[in-house]
Amino acid sequence: MLSPGNVVERYEVERELGGGGMARVYKVRHVALGSVHALKVLDPELVGNAELRARFLDEGRIQARLRHPNILVITDVVVAPGVAGLVMDYLEGESLDKYLANVKQPPSPDEVRDIFRQVLAAMEFAHQHGVIHRDLKPSNIFLEQVHGRRVVRVLDFGIAKVSDKLSDAEGRPVARPGSRMGTPQYMSPEQIRSAEEVTVRSDIFSLGVTLYELATAQPCFQGESDAAIMEKIVRGEFVSPDVVHPGLAPGLRTAILRAMALEPERRFASCGEFAAALVEEAPAPVRAATPLRVPVTRAPVAAPRVREPEPDGNEPTFVPRPAPVQAPAARVVEARPAPVRLAEPKPAAPLEKRAPKLAKKPAPPPSEEAEAEQEEAPPRGKPWRWVLLFALAGLVALFGSALIGMLSGGSAPSAPKGGAPVTRPGGSPGTRSR
Ligand SMILES: Nc1ncnc2c1ncn2[C@@H]1O[C@H](COP(=O)(O)OP(=O)(O)O)[C@@H](O)[C@H]1O
Ligand SMILES: [Mg+2]
Repeated sequence: MLSPGNVVERYEVERELGGGGMARVYKVRHVALGSVHALKVLDPELVGNAELRARFLDEGRIQARLRHPNILVITDVVVAPGVAGLVMDYLEGESLDKYLANVKQPPSPDEVRDIFRQVLAAMEFAHQHGVIHRDLKPSNIFLEQVHGRRVVRVLDFGIAKVSDKLSDAEGRPVARPGSRMGTPQYMSPEQIRSAEEVTVRSDIFSLGVTLYELATAQPCFQGESDAAIMEKIVRGEFVSPDVVHPGLAPGLRTAILRAMALEPERRFASCGEFAAALVEEAPAPVRAATPLRVPVTRAPVAAPRVREPEPDGNEPTFVPRPAPVQAPAARVVEARPAPVRLAEPKPAAPLEKRAPKLAKKPAPPPSEEAEAEQEEAPPRGKPWRWVLLFALAGLVALFGSALIGMLSGGSAPSAPKGGAPVTRPGGSPGTRSR
């Protein structure tokens, strides 16, 4: 245990920053340069253990290889009698576990994505360089404040597993036997069964548990003992994150559950894939491609629910009517009838006042069919014209026959040629003799 003012090699201790089971981290100042750093030293009782000391210093070598903006930089190694230490950039800010301990409600989905996108970028890089972290959890993720901007850093590659790509022809990670186990709450089921079983997908499981905690502000696995917690992990027993936080974005829920799948092959294959799922997480518009539209002429009176075929070809099921996404033309309407509005009652205008309006209304131009019909149809007249015509013809005939009678000198009208006797009212039938 170091105290303020202690000097370790060229570094003077200012204060303690944190620490776990095997090491402690201090804020230190370089005595010659005055620069501020963090110094992580192995606990004094463990320094004597050569294997532990070697493994601890390995962390420095592994992390020093990983130059990435979201991975804490190791700048130096300090080895002195009774001391083994790693010198690192000093980070201003707080670790994710401390941040989560202080939040009153779950961070917003945007904040969750902003933090986690950076964690995944760091781990994608580490994995691509053959390094599996094996101890990913909130206390190993740091939220640094750089000129008011948040930069996320992944720390503590102390139990990382390294694949030596130069010596392994197939590029498989090479396990170092006897490595320390991870923290039970964030360990993958396969890591619990065997520390040597870890793969990239084991880190992805731990990241899923971490994302669960970040997005809901509640730890995923809790129990009275490490054994109880590990049993839950192996069985996949946990409360769904959307139950813990009902406001959880659906895409975040999906990503968490996929990352935490019991079988490694069902998880994301890489942190890049995991990150892509977070970007795509905005929920797609529900069935936007098939908005319900019905021709105007056939609009049903009411259709509160829509029958749509199931994508897998099963029997169609009733689903809630989707909101229309496009309303392309006036010829297409929603199946749901428009709400009936009762118009304000207006006093009826007097008939004579309304009539001119009707008269002014221009007649619609006749259609071609109507015109053709008009040409073929017989001329139409009004019936009284025919009556007048017949009366006139009768008069002319009467007047004509009287005139002929007068000219021929007889008083009796002549019978038509070869015709029947003409009956005169009040007279006897007569015959015309020659
Ligand atoms: N470079 C750093 N700058 C500031 N704080 C740090 C730094 N490194 C670690 N810490 C703090 O110390 C804690 C423990 O560090 P870590 O490397 O995780 O040690 P351990 O192996 O004991 O878990 C971190 O959670 C963080 O709060
Ligand atoms: Mg740690």
